[in-house]
Order: sequence, then C-alpha cells, then structure tokens
Amino acid sequence: MNDLERNILVQIMDFSKKIYDQMNRIHHNWDHIMRDYRRAEIICAEEKANDFVVLSAITMHDLGYLFGPEGHALSGARACRENILPEYNLPKPIIEQICHCIEAHDPDSGVLPQTIEAKIVADADLLEKSDLMVIMEGLFNNVAREFNITYQDYIRLFLRKMKPNFYTKKAEEMDNGRLELIRKLFEKA
Ligand SMILES: [Fe+2]
Ligand SMILES: [Fe+2]
Repeated sequence: MNDLERNILVQIMDFSKKIYDQMNRIHHNWDHIMRDYRRAEIICAEEKANDFVVLSAITMHDLGYLFGPEGHALSGARACRENILPEYNLPKPIIEQICHCIEAHDPDSGVLPQTIEAKIVADADLLEKSDLMVIMEGLFNNVAREFNITYQDYIRLFLRKMKPNFYTKKAEEMDNGRLELIRKLFEKA
C-alpha cells in the first residue's frame, strides 16, 4: 500500500467507524470490524493480494446493515459504489474490486468471491464465527472438566450464572448487551 492509499484508508476508517457507532449494533459494530481487520491483515501477509482493497473492504463490509439486515452485502456494496467511494478519487477498477469484496462476503448475497481479495474478506469474516464457537466450546468443555460435570450440566449451570445485571456501569457498557444475547441463544437450544 502506498502513502496515498494509506491516507485514504485512514479516512475510510474514520468515516466508517462513525457510521458503525451510530448504528450501535450489538455484534456488527466497530469491534467486529477491528477483529476482522486483524484477521484480514494476517491472511494478506500470506497471500499475494492488494492490501488496500482488502482492508478498505473489510472496514466497510457491514455498512449495509444501515439499510436493514436483509441483503446487507448487496446494499452495502451499492452504497460504497455510488455514494462513499467516489468521494476519494479512486480509480474505477479499484472501486469495483472493493465493492466486489463487500457484495461477496456473505454467501446469502448470491455473489461468490472471484478475486483473492474478496476471498480474504469472506474468510476473515467467517473466522469470526468459528473463533466465537471455539471460545464457547472451549469454555464449556474446560469448565465442565474442571467441575467434573457433563457438558449438558454445565450449560444449565452456565445459564444460572447469567445474571440479569452487571454490578458496575462500566462492565455493562463493555458488555453492550452481548451476555443477554448468549443467554437467549442457549435458553432456546
Ligand atoms: Fe456481513
Ligand atoms: Fe461481518
């Protein structure tokens, strides 16, 4: 990435962060983008890919949630192509490459990744799902073993431990509703 691209990426990140913060989603927020961003950087270092395209796309890949959850990959790509990216004086083919990464990051869009950049973006985002499951599975298995109880018994115990409120305001702010989300998920299961 050259200096000019780095400068544009910083501007894209500033702009996108404001929108994610405004949307204030429990999961698809700036923290999610930063986790995917680091994964994408790591994959990029292994692959011959345009890191400016990958990191710009990762930064913007879930902006489509602004228009609702249905078809967020396509609506996000459209907004980038028509409204956001033309602001930065980028060559048209680069804009197209970034938008392709965004529309192809979610298999539900019906668009499959055609470029290495789009594949990296899709993989970095998919890793979020596997990483979260690994953390949950690991936690459940380890604690079940530690308590010498079955996995199923631990899930019941786990639900009991999910108290409705945090004691401190800061912890509540840091949780941002996630614990409640997990509790509901496991109560249903
Ligand atoms: Fe997404
Ligand atoms: Fe995502």
